[in-house]
Amino acid sequence: MITFETVNVEIDGPTATIYFNRPDKKNAMSPQLHQDMHKALDAIEDDGNVKAVVITGVGDSFSAGMDLEECFLRPYNDPMLFYTTNLVALKWFQRLKAFPAVTIAKVNGYAFGGGFEVTGLCDLAVAAEHVKFGLSEINFGIFPAGGASWAATHNLQRKQALYYILTGDTMTGKQAEEFGFVNKAVPAEELDAVTDKIVSKIVNKNPVTLRLAKEVYERTTHLDLPEAIDYDQAKLWELARLTSNEWINVALKQFEKRSFRPGVETYKRDVA
Ligand code: ACO
Repeated sequence: MITFETVNVEIDGPTATIYFNRPDKKNAMSPQLHQDMHKALDAIEDDGNVKAVVITGVGDSFSAGMDLEECFLRPYNDPMLFYTTNLVALKWFQRLKAFPAVTIAKVNGYAFGGGFEVTGLCDLAVAAEHVKFGLSEINFGIFPAGGASWAATHNLQRKQALYYILTGDTMTGKQAEEFGFVNKAVPAEELDAVTDKIVSKIVNKNPVTLRLAKEVYERTTHLDLPEAIDYDQAKLWELARLTSNEWINVALKQFEKRSFRPGVETYKRDVA
């Protein structure tokens, strides 16, 4: 376990788990936590072997969002301090969204504001059914910013996004699953096992393929079909080169020998 002041990181082979660790403050994101998140992401990138990153919270909360006192209230009258404090957050949010490994939010409790946003920025999300998600910004007089509106508009239908942005109401993990904001909502006692099962499906894949699959998805959502095809074909050749044609030389050779069925399982990467 690598421990920073407010964040812990556990790296176990191809899986890393990041823990927000301010349980007495519902894992609210203080300036220190924002700095620690950069250190956590650095540690995972430096390891070089991580394919899946799970983010969760210590205690009964995922994260109650930005620390309203330390990030907003106290630095507000010093514009440069306010800017630099919050810039650290805006930068790790963007880093998380573009992270090369697959990111999975394991939402164990309250997820407000920045906690809601992190769930939306991750590639996948699993939540306990009882948890409460909320964009509470409107309740204290602002609108979701710093990527939180983006996270709502890119994970929810328009009416749902606007409902939660405008009312500040909370949605449960179960509702989040119905709206497609999380992949699965499960009883709290099953959260670890269900997340582990998803992780196990990710970590037996080729890491270069995982990274490029994410890039192709993200880029092509904004392209028309001809441009999307041009882009994905170029990426396919990049993949072939970076993986020494593993898909032809290993995977489809195994299919030729009828040693696996690609529709329902993954090829064995270490078998010729
Ligand atoms: N910022 C700073 N401190 C916080 C935050 C926060 N976002 N959330 C909780 N805390 C602190 C509380 O002030 C309290 O501190 P204290 O022990 O020093 O008094 C401690 O965490 C425990 O919180 P309680 O309110 O006592 O816990 P409770 O279970 O009653 O309520 C809840 C939990 C609903 C999460 C409540 O704390 C709350 O409403 N927090 C604010 C949530 C929010 O609106 N976050 C901002 C989102 S917007 C954004 O991220 C930009």
